[in-house]
Amino acid sequence: MKRVAILISGGGSNMIRLLQDMTGDHLARPVLVASNDPQAGGLARAAQMGVPTAAVDHRAFPRDRAGFEQALLEPLLAAEPDIICLAGFMRILTPDFVQRFQGRMLNIHPSLLPKYPGLDTHARAIAAGDAQAGCTVHLVTPELDAGPPLGQARVPVLPGDDAATLAARVLVQEHRLYPAVLRRFASGDRTPVTL
Ligand code: GRF
Repeated sequence: MKRVAILISGGGSNMIRLLQDMTGDHLARPVLVASNDPQAGGLARAAQMGVPTAAVDHRAFPRDRAGFEQALLEPLLAAEPDIICLAGFMRILTPDFVQRFQGRMLNIHPSLLPKYPGLDTHARAIAAGDAQAGCTVHLVTPELDAGPPLGQARVPVLPGDDAATLAARVLVQEHRLYPAVLRRFASGDRTPVTL
């Protein structure tokens, strides 16, 4: 059984779907949900769902990314994860941290990578006049939002869309894609999921 730690920064809607899916014949189980924000709503949800939680406030480490990561590593390594899922985790991780888990750390990004790495992905897709948008689950590498894709889901960009309406349409697919990718990844299969 693979041990999965999930890192969040906010409500954790993707984390919740991952927890809900890790049952039955799924080859992974959650061992920790951790956040850089002690107020993250997802922490209470994870606790309600019986998963151990941890929080390390990144604001306690101003201009000290390495110090924050050192503190985060404590509960993270104690959970002995085989796989780490970044799910709405909004901190950029240093190459040192990434290299510790490279090849077994996943992230979900709300665009059809390699298009639109970084922020404001939906507004950028609309501004570019794209007919399609979507989300990507990828392996995390030191370069932001640039690792090998493990799955993608596409949605249409509709006339009259704004960033909020497109984000809502993409989020529905994120909630389908991430669990499907984690299921496949936990079984050792690296074939990309296409939804
Ligand atoms: C989602 O749009 C996700 O793509 C991005 O963070 C947003 C919130 O995710 N990574 P969640 O609801 O906290 O899982």
